[in-house]
Amino acid sequence: MLKPYVVTVSSEKGGVGKTTLATNLAIYLKALNEELPVTLFSFDNHFSVDRMFRIGRTVKRGDMLDFLTGKPAEDLLELGEYGVQFIPSSRKLDTLAPNIQRLDVLARVLAASSLQGIIIIDTRPTLDVFTRNALFAADRVIVPVKDTPSLENCRNLYDFFEQQGLSKRPLRLLPCLIDSRVHYDGPFKNAYQLLKGYAINRGYRCLEGFIAKSPKVESLNTNPEGKIYPVLTHGRSTNVHVQFAHLARQIFISAKEEPQRRLQQVRQDMEQLEQKRNANFLERRNQLIPECLICGRRLINHNSMEPASYFYLSSDRKVAGFLDEACFSALVFRHCYHSQKKINPTDPLVDLFRESALRSYFILRHGEDDSRSDLLFYRFDEEGFEISQKSIELRKHESRFLHKEPSALYRFAYRTLFQDEKPAKNRFLIIRRIDNEFPEDILLDENYACLNEAMHSIVNRINNNL
Ligand SMILES: Nc1ncnc2c1ncn2[C@@H]1O[C@H](COP(=O)(O)OP(=O)(O)OP(=O)(O)O)[C@@H](O)[C@H]1O
Ligand SMILES: [Mg+2]
Repeated sequence: MLKPYVVTVSSEKGGVGKTTLATNLAIYLKALNEELPVTLFSFDNHFSVDRMFRIGRTVKRGDMLDFLTGKPAEDLLELGEYGVQFIPSSRKLDTLAPNIQRLDVLARVLAASSLQGIIIIDTRPTLDVFTRNALFAADRVIVPVKDTPSLENCRNLYDFFEQQGLSKRPLRLLPCLIDSRVHYDGPFKNAYQLLKGYAINRGYRCLEGFIAKSPKVESLNTNPEGKIYPVLTHGRSTNVHVQFAHLARQIFISAKEEPQRRLQQVRQDMEQLEQKRNANFLERRNQLIPECLICGRRLINHNSMEPASYFYLSSDRKVAGFLDEACFSALVFRHCYHSQKKINPTDPLVDLFRESALRSYFILRHGEDDSRSDLLFYRFDEEGFEISQKSIELRKHESRFLHKEPSALYRFAYRTLFQDEKPAKNRFLIIRRIDNEFPEDILLDENYACLNEAMHSIVNRINNNL
């Protein structure tokens, strides 16, 4: 199914006619082809879209904030006046801004939706994260310019495309709010010709034509009913009516002729990333030591996994695996707290350890002195600050008389911190408490990257302290 064609209306300059353009363009497109699905939404908080299109007193099912946080478009769309569907604007969008750093949030939700036809996005007069998301998703960016300062502002839009490595092909300037009464002497006869000349001179491409300044159009915002009226129904006598009709035709044709839609590209990128993510996951899973190195119980089966509460990974990423919860607690109590008893899982101290381990990183490494066979065991908090450090003597057999088998700690250290029978120099082991029910989630790109980052900063900290 063909992805929708996305038109973003954007300018850093306020009051250049973005909202008037976005809302009227939606109506003129619908008038051009009744069958064409046209969807409109705005990142503005003036609620012009809602005031112009809402029919009656519909109960709101959600708004743009819900859309960006994953609620499907289909559950949020309202069918509005003139057949234009819209997602209601949000008053609380700013609360979301600190949480969305990525520029592809909007593109991803749009690509995942079943929306078709043409989507028009009205933006705020800033290059904030919402505008940047709208630019990132666009097949066509209409930049209204009404004077030289607004033309100078276009540089930032072009720079944004440049920095993101995006093609600048979608960008088109459109002279707006042009006062036809003003005439100049010289090669440029009026404001439209002057702005267009400046734009071309700077290498900016323009849409055909312009939108004139019209008192009639301005008055459509202000009336006793508190409505906003479209030019198509209430300003047909103006030049702006003809100009909007011409603009809509241009957009309609470019949508028709666009061979590859932006959201199609986003969808393909998403699929590729997903495949890569799955491949990374499988590669990491295949390299794991399948049993708990402390008790020997098999934790990883071909297609399934037993519950496990700790994950370990060596700093050179050569050794990784899971540990049983009770096994690791017993190891810590035995060697760090010198507890001689078999640990009781209902002991409040064990419970406390289990709970606080959720906010800790444990590091195990070989001691500095080659001649001594000791291990260093560190505990760090989630900010990377050291909480404790213990030196543990590594003996192959804990008791000379009773045990023939190597001790649990030795078995664990031997398989993880030794290479070719010798302690692997500079190899650290990070051990992290994980979700018992979904232990393998730690192998997913985002979680695995977090763990690696934590290990990196802790290892640097330890090395710098030596
Ligand atoms: N063609 C036009 N002729 C006359 N007035 C217009 C025209 N287009 C828009 N206006 C008026 O200009 C003002 C600003 O328009 P609009 O709200 O569309 O700009 P904007 O770029 O969305 O502003 P903001 O940056 O604040 O969101 C409004 O009062 C609107 O009625
Ligand atoms: Mg606006």
